[in-house]
Amino acid sequence: MINKAKLGVLVSGRGSNLHSIIDNIEEGKLNAEIAVVISDVRDAYALERARKHNIKTCFINPKDFKARGEFFDEIAKNLEDGNVEYVILAGFMRIIPASLINAYKNKILNIHPALLPSFPGLGVQKKALEYGVKYSGCTVHFVDEGCDTGPIVLQAVVPVLDDDTEKTLSQRILKEEHRIYPEAIELVINDKIELVGRRVIKK
Ligand code: GAR
Repeated sequence: MINKAKLGVLVSGRGSNLHSIIDNIEEGKLNAEIAVVISDVRDAYALERARKHNIKTCFINPKDFKARGEFFDEIAKNLEDGNVEYVILAGFMRIIPASLINAYKNKILNIHPALLPSFPGLGVQKKALEYGVKYSGCTVHFVDEGCDTGPIVLQAVVPVLDDDTEKTLSQRILKEEHRIYPEAIELVINDKIELVGRRVIKK
């Protein structure tokens, strides 16, 4: 059995994507282990989900640090302590600084609930509805220094229905997130893809 990839998962909230990753690991579909789940929100439900599965958790309070860089240095320290190889952003609502990106070159992934490059940032299901797009979806991408701008690994398309609300559209997109995020992680940790310019190509 090849060594399991060591993941560090960064969260800020509910943690349903974390949950789908845990499920995929426990079902043997992902040859990985989660070394640590780090949250910037003390009572994020994601932390509780992790604890239920005996995964190490860590709350790092951004308010404890004078500068953004110091806060992220503390995150980096915790990732290093867990010998983390891949950083998985699962509803982590902060932009990652260059220091961390350089420490994990092309080894940080994010999931975003829209078809990038449309609708980067926050509140994007509402923005998609207001804009009137007929299709939205979700994107897994490598993280660079921009906001949701890194090379795209996988996307899934979700039709926007006439009677959709932010809630119903978000729920249908989330279902696809839970499907494609573990798939993308599998591609990355098993070295099945390569970057050609901005394009992520299957080897
Ligand atoms: C997910 O929809 C994820 O795509 C989004 O936050 C939600 C987290 O849900 N992430 C972003 O908007 C990042 N810009 P979860 O905590 O249940 O996984």
